[in-house]
Amino acid sequence: MKTKIAEFLADYIPSLSKEEIEQLIETPPTQDMGDLAFPCFRLAKSYHKAPAMIASELTQSMQKPEFISDIQAAGPYINFYLNRAEYAGNTLKKIVSADDYGHSDEGEGKTICMDYSSPNIAKNFHVGHLRTTIIGNSIYKIFSKLGYKVVRINHLGDWGTQFGKLIVAYKRWGSKEEVEKKGIQELMDLYVRFHEEAETDDTLNDEARAAFAEMEHGNEEYLKIWEWFKEISMKEFMRVYDMLDVQFDAFTGESFYRNMTPEILDMLRQDHLLVESEGALVVPLDEYDMPPCIVAKSDGSSIYATRDLAAVLYRKKTYDFTKCLYVTGLEQKLHFKQIFKVIELMGYDFASGLVHVPYGLVSLKSGKISSRKGNVIYAEDILNESINKTKTIISEKNPNLENKDQVAHDVGIGAIIFNDLYNQRIKDVTFDWDKLLNFDGETGPYVQYTHARAASVLRKAGYDEITKDDIRALVGKADFNVLTDDASIALIKELDRYPTVIKSAAEKYEPSVVARYSMDVAHAFNTFYRDNQVIVDDDKVKTARLALVAVTKEIIKDSLSLLGIHSPERM
Ligand code: ARG
Repeated sequence: MKTKIAEFLADYIPSLSKEEIEQLIETPPTQDMGDLAFPCFRLAKSYHKAPAMIASELTQSMQKPEFISDIQAAGPYINFYLNRAEYAGNTLKKIVSADDYGHSDEGEGKTICMDYSSPNIAKNFHVGHLRTTIIGNSIYKIFSKLGYKVVRINHLGDWGTQFGKLIVAYKRWGSKEEVEKKGIQELMDLYVRFHEEAETDDTLNDEARAAFAEMEHGNEEYLKIWEWFKEISMKEFMRVYDMLDVQFDAFTGESFYRNMTPEILDMLRQDHLLVESEGALVVPLDEYDMPPCIVAKSDGSSIYATRDLAAVLYRKKTYDFTKCLYVTGLEQKLHFKQIFKVIELMGYDFASGLVHVPYGLVSLKSGKISSRKGNVIYAEDILNESINKTKTIISEKNPNLENKDQVAHDVGIGAIIFNDLYNQRIKDVTFDWDKLLNFDGETGPYVQYTHARAASVLRKAGYDEITKDDIRALVGKADFNVLTDDASIALIKELDRYPTVIKSAAEKYEPSVVARYSMDVAHAFNTFYRDNQVIVDDDKVKTARLALVAVTKEIIKDSLSLLGIHSPERM
């Protein structure tokens, strides 16, 4: 619409380009001020007149085009009133004629690598990892919708000195039975015990360092134990991924790069970037106001940064990405700044395609989240708690619901995801059960409930499982003069905006843009539904309103799916 009005205005305003005009066009605060407005302030200089005068003179000179029902000058603004029936018809027809509304070809032929989730072996999958998993999964879906090929990489924390410690602890105090019985919890306990004992016995640290060095040199016994720890951890992680319905294309963790690190050190040496400092090998970055990037310890063993450097080069070679995104907590900001800088200093211009996508902290508001031990919070416990609480709510609200368990699962998980994605990712997230499970609040369940409500209206009209063809047929038959009231038009405008929303979310790596949008559509739908009865005797009215309900339902479902949230048909 903006584009169309800009094209129309361009004939009357030769001093501005079509693009400049489009940029200036605004949406008025209320619909009675028109659907779109052009402010005349910018023209005052070249016209040597007051903006209000320009607005009124221009308006008088205009020949109203077909798609506009009225043009009015109001102070310094020119307000445009759409021909609502035509606008409604064009918009709904445009939406249903698309194979995948909101899809674009902007990403065609481009690959994006995404590094997210990446929990640490032998450590619990905590709420921070829940955030990177949820945010990463959503950004993956958003970019896929725009036609990008996205490679989902899980950079597991499965290598490093901590495994030397763990092996030492296991050999001293552990048992196969306990590890098998208690899983990750037992591995964490062993790790804690190591640190406690090492406080009084310093030889333990030496032993651990030596053990890790041996692992890097291929000690079979140690590697076997390590593999086993990894298997045990993966089993627990996979449970969380299954609950969230999250998948990966590669589980290439840090250990995957362990043999590539000598090569990285050689390259850095050849580029004259490597310096020895306090026994370690570093790339100095003081010129760029950063502490040095440490790439090897004094005993030559690799570290987190070395493996990240190897990973970038490997990914570039393997996937030829245009961008590689890293979704981690804000506390790793410096780490990635250093890595990206070193890659740039090595002469790779693809360094500009490396992007750190940070997020804020997680805190617990009211009530206690039951944790298994101490204050270690497992993501799995949170998800289960949310599902269970949802089950209770459903049992109260709708005890006869079919598929109660599946719905409780989708809604409980949806609530957690939505709570995570509703605010900008850099903001902290709070788990406040009363808030995030409030079916009337700004929550996932509210949006899901709106979708289920639309589905129920369609069922009443005989559409048990409405198909794309059904929706096309409804829109094809609809008389759009029925959809010209404020609430219908406000809803149609929301639906119209979906493709722009997806683009903007991708540009900012910001799922909250989509989450907010799904809430806007839900609100607009509920206002429409309050003002307009859908199942009425008048067939003409019924068909047009059903068409709008059906299209809305599909878009709510699609926008939720971009967040990684399922939309049950009944709730
Ligand atoms: N395993 C790390 C952690 O739990 C996150 C890894 C992020 N990815 C990376 N390429 N460094 O904090």
